[in-house]
Amino acid sequence: MKFFVDTADLAEIRDLASTGLLDGVTTNPSLVAKAGRSFLDLVAEICEVVTGPVSAEVAATDYETMLAEGKHLAKIAPNVAVKVPLTPAGLKVCRHLANEGTMVNVTLCFSAAQAILAAKAGATFVSPFVGRLDDVGQNGLGLIAEIVQIYDSYPQITTEVLVASIRNPIHLVESAKMGAHVATMPPAVIRQLYAHPLTDKGLSQFVADWAKTGQTILDQPIPRRAAAE
Ligand code: G3P
Repeated sequence: MKFFVDTADLAEIRDLASTGLLDGVTTNPSLVAKAGRSFLDLVAEICEVVTGPVSAEVAATDYETMLAEGKHLAKIAPNVAVKVPLTPAGLKVCRHLANEGTMVNVTLCFSAAQAILAAKAGATFVSPFVGRLDDVGQNGLGLIAEIVQIYDSYPQITTEVLVASIRNPIHLVESAKMGAHVATMPPAVIRQLYAHPLTDKGLSQFVADWAKTGQTILDQPIPRRAAAE
């Protein structure tokens, strides 16, 4: 499963990229507003930090302007994935850009029917919003299961299920169990994935017991027999 980070905070992106576990980045207009920086400069910098797909969302909602914005954004770097909303105009833009070889992330997907349309429009990614469905009392993870099942039934579909609006590690683990291709997570959720109290407890015990040996690994020469192998 690919891990994307859902943020426009460059310091966070650099930090998470240094773990070697980051496959891409997603941004949206709300995250860009929070970053308070020139959008195109920001996307260009992110694309230098991460080699994988970097989603940059169009601002307009009409076909002509969205298409022009999408083409403009795609010129920033080859790893830009143009993000368009799941509307009739957005999907028309998706088809056009996909035909030109541009990666497209169709966002704001809240139903299986919408996900089928995104695949038919040639989307590289479809972004179903798990947390926002949960927020209104619907089953966000249930939607992921439906989309994965449908896409799996049609081997010719190349659109990847990019689980978005992830709020906790359970969203991530359940999506992975279903076989979703990508998860985009806020930095805080990615950091939560590492955490387990038994890991901390076990490590403290090992560190304490090692201290009792009075040894250091790096001060010991490699035994001659092992070095010869
Ligand atoms: O970027 C799209 C999505 O991940 C937003 O998440 O937490 O604002 O619902 P959230």
